[in-house]
Amino acid sequence: MSNRTFTMIKPDATKKGDTGAILDQIIKAGFAVKAMKWTKLTQEQAGLFYDIHRERPFFGELVDFMSSGPIVAAILEKDNAVEDFRTLIGATNPAQAAEGTIRKRFAASIGENAVHGSDSDENAAIEGNFFFSALERF
Ligand code: CMP
Repeated sequence: MSNRTFTMIKPDATKKGDTGAILDQIIKAGFAVKAMKWTKLTQEQAGLFYDIHRERPFFGELVDFMSSGPIVAAILEKDNAVEDFRTLIGATNPAQAAEGTIRKRFAASIGENAVHGSDSDENAAIEGNFFFSALERF
């Protein structure tokens, strides 16, 4: 069990002005920010980040969406971070997400689902390293 996870606030949420409210919910749930940046992915970068999904039918849609506007990338710390963060954000499909979760509150669809959360300690490390150097973590 690791104490770090990685998240992105996705373009649907940054465009709607939900960034502050989402960060507030994350911090109030006990996660400490260890690294954070506001940036925008190119199609190529979005494809590399989601390379594991390259063969899925929704890959093109996912890459188009994730490069369509700004995102906030962050490394978060808390005991049991990966699992607790996935509980906080709720199911991938907001229609199936529990009441009060970030996706239930802020997401519109399975594709435009407001936030990403790493699904394992291994992927949390890979995804954090995708965005942040050692000099950008505190
Ligand atoms: P995320 O947790 O960022 O990881 C992969 C993403 O692929 C997922 O959230 C969704 O945004 C997206 N995704 C998963 N399933 C579908 C689908 N059936 N149609 C469109 N996008 C999807």
